[in-house]
Amino acid sequence: MIKADCVVADCREAATCRGPVPKRREAMKDVGLVEKAWIAGRDGRIVFIGSEDEYRRMVEPAAGAVIIDAGGLVGLPGFVDAHTHLPFAGSRANEFSLRIQGWTYQQLAAKGMGIRSTVRATRAATREEIRDLCLSRLDEMLLYGTTTAEAKSGYGLNLADEIKQLQAVRDAGALHPVDLVATFMGAHEIPDEYRDRKEDYLDLLVHTIVPAVRDQGLARFFDVFCEEGVFTLAETERLAEAALSAGFGLKIHADEFVALGGTELAARRGAVSAEHLIAVTESGIAALAASETAAILLPNVPFFLMQDKKAPARRLIEAGAAVALASDFNPGSSMTSNMQWIVQLGVFQLKMTIEEALNAATANGAYAIRAAGDVGSLEPGKKMDLILCDMPGLADLVYRVGRNPVKIVLKNGRPVVVDGRVCFTS
Ligand code: NIG
Ligand code: FE
Repeated sequence: MIKADCVVADCREAATCRGPVPKRREAMKDVGLVEKAWIAGRDGRIVFIGSEDEYRRMVEPAAGAVIIDAGGLVGLPGFVDAHTHLPFAGSRANEFSLRIQGWTYQQLAAKGMGIRSTVRATRAATREEIRDLCLSRLDEMLLYGTTTAEAKSGYGLNLADEIKQLQAVRDAGALHPVDLVATFMGAHEIPDEYRDRKEDYLDLLVHTIVPAVRDQGLARFFDVFCEEGVFTLAETERLAEAALSAGFGLKIHADEFVALGGTELAARRGAVSAEHLIAVTESGIAALAASETAAILLPNVPFFLMQDKKAPARRLIEAGAAVALASDFNPGSSMTSNMQWIVQLGVFQLKMTIEEALNAATANGAYAIRAAGDVGSLEPGKKMDLILCDMPGLADLVYRVGRNPVKIVLKNGRPVVVDGRVCFTS
């Protein structure tokens, strides 16, 4: 018999998102639905998923096991949000009001607002203040069903403040059930004090900050904003080389507004992911499809920037790219961390099917941060990160736009949201 210390009994159905990752093309359409599912775990990992009959034959709950009656609820893997800018301070609501009046994101950035205004606020905040901001944001993520998230620095833009942001991410991760995967993004923008000597900032990144972040083990990935007015393709190439030689996995903010060749570079250098891709070209699509580089699409960005152009999700899927969906949670271009909303936008705006969007926000999200051995699907061996939703079937996750159906969240087999409220002791 399989021993279990946590049992979720009688889900109406469970979309397991199981199977090999990344999911491409037809595989994205299959969410591995199990009707009337029973799920059991031990020591935080799933040990069984199947029918009640199989459960009764194969599983033996330990004395004192947590037993959750999921009658009527639909089970899903916890969402994996593969792209967030979690550790920032301040608000850009004022800038948002200007955008509503017609200013564009790039016009505001050129006036010293945008990322640089968040840099000023983040530099002024202490490590503890940023940690506390992260913690309350992580509570909100958990309530909407996110159990793993990537978190980028990039609002410090100097040695001390980049390190401070990454330490705040590590501190928050140690106190909160949501698993955090840190990315160093010192190459997010050129800081004010280096505006007219960008080469010096590149030297600082390559010779000082990259080695320091590596030596302190503060981040697994390195990310760079390859974009007109930010880092050119040649500069991105230099940074990528430094990051890869230092042992970081590479991520690139590529083709968000203007196609500079960042996507092709990502594929060529074996990057873990290319992210945004609103302006990706046919050659970028072909390069991704032929590579192991995930295509992380961030559909709230064009929505939030009120921009018609969207990432070509259908073309990417049909070509065979490993498509993931993420929030891009940040104060300028995507002030939401709600992955249900991201799945809804994947369907409404990017014309993905519900199944494709769910796989993109779970299994392929996990692939896009190289965490698929642990999270992203409900199958034996993976962490028991599971959300239970009050809805009649999977379609309602998208059909009932803007409603939060998450009632219970289990993280590592432990209830951390019950009755729609966060409840854990760290
Ligand atoms: O992914 N594109 C660059 N970085 C963020 C925006 C950050 C900000 O506006 O603060 C993004 O959209
Ligand atoms: Fe981003």
